[in-house]
Amino acid sequence: AIDPQFHENREKVDDHEGHDVWGPVDEPEKLGIHGTHVAVDFDLCIADGACLEDCPVDVFEWVDTPDHPESEKKADPANEAQCIDCMLCVDVCPVDAIDVDAG
Ligand code: SF4
Ligand code: F3S
Ligand code: ZN
Repeated sequence: AIDPQFHENREKVDDHEGHDVWGPVDEPEKLGIHGTHVAVDFDLCIADGACLEDCPVDVFEWVDTPDHPESEKKADPANEAQCIDCMLCVDVCPVDAIDVDAG
């Protein structure tokens, strides 16, 4: 599962489409965590798609991640500022790749 303390345990190493990327990153095998309020561990995501289907405000968009060992696309929290903290995505992800900081 995604580390809920990633803010403390990881460092911001990049910016992607306006949100933070938390390392370590070593492409294409290691992609880190994308987002801060809505955070997706790209190294855990298996492209299940439930988060994209269920999010009521369309926070997620697919990004292609060719040659990543778990999946060739990931759910990117492209619109994390729109999140209404419903926690659906956290509940439906089969690999617990998503953390939403509702506090
Ligand atoms: Fe979307 Fe709800 Fe997840 Fe926020 S908590 S990203 S609104 S599904
Ligand atoms: Fe990935 Fe979990 Fe969404 S596997 S596509 S973050 S439901
Ligand atoms: Zn991203």
